[in-house]
Amino acid sequence: MPLVGVTIYKFDDNFMSFVRRAIETNAEDKAKLILNDSQNDQAKQNEQVEMMISKGVDSLAINLVDPQAASTIIEKAKNEDIPLVFFNKEPSKEDMTSYDKCWFVGTDTPAAAIIQGEVIVKSWKEHPEWDKNGDGVIQYVMLKGEPGHPDAEARTTYSIKTVEENGIETEELEIQTGMWDTVKAKDIVDAWYAKHGDAIEFVICNNDAMALGAIASLKAEGYFTGDKIMPIVGVDAIPDAIVQIEEGTMVGSVLNDATNQGYAAVDLAANVALGKDPIDGTNWNLDDTKAVRVPYVAITKENIQVAKDCYGK
Ligand code: BGC
Ligand code: CA
Repeated sequence: MPLVGVTIYKFDDNFMSFVRRAIETNAEDKAKLILNDSQNDQAKQNEQVEMMISKGVDSLAINLVDPQAASTIIEKAKNEDIPLVFFNKEPSKEDMTSYDKCWFVGTDTPAAAIIQGEVIVKSWKEHPEWDKNGDGVIQYVMLKGEPGHPDAEARTTYSIKTVEENGIETEELEIQTGMWDTVKAKDIVDAWYAKHGDAIEFVICNNDAMALGAIASLKAEGYFTGDKIMPIVGVDAIPDAIVQIEEGTMVGSVLNDATNQGYAAVDLAANVALGKDPIDGTNWNLDDTKAVRVPYVAITKENIQVAKDCYGK
């Protein structure tokens, strides 16, 4: 079996822990792994890559800490002619084309935001009472992921764009990065609630981990009991969020298929390690940016099983 060097940008990212599990499962009969926690430190990740190269890895599968650091990793791999698969954090086009033996596994980035926007539109139309001040405008707060992360940037922009394109006006009361993190998100929403109170009509989150923080904050303010409702949406459809959707605490999420992204990363890395075509013997497709893009799916109470099946694999 080929030796594949893997880094995860940090093990304690909720969503990435599911991608990691899928990587380990799929590797069982395909590759021997060296698996590193980069602990959210790009310098550390650079060292890990050097260490793995010195151990003779046949390919690399890298979840960057900083999407802008792709060129540093590419240079190291290129010097030793080692094929490289990035996953989850997409490098720039320029970086991707700078090395022929480099591929990406992720998603169609803006799609999540468009789907999230559609979930917002549909639910808002179904619940006229959510427009608490009755002005027809959604007064929302936005918890953004890591700035500069293509997923965070796209989700922030396209979610609102989609709502507005559907003829619903919006007003941004607050936006701040919660760095994909539950605890940070809770603190931020605590502060926003202290400032705006019931003027907040929707909490839009770039991922579920932050949505969980928002729920924790608002629960402490007496929300989600009786008729005190606050619509919250996220992205990922991780198991903890699925529970919230089932209980009606969260309106919906967007399935970010951790399992298939982890599987695809290993399939590609194992193939290229053996000098094969990246998608040889698989069902994946590469687009014209050398990327496998696993589709997103809207998740609400009605189709919750789809998310359960994905994360249950
Ligand atoms: C996920 C986030 C995760 C991030 C890590 C995103 O695609 O939606 O939950 O924290 O990737 O890079
Ligand atoms: Ca309103």
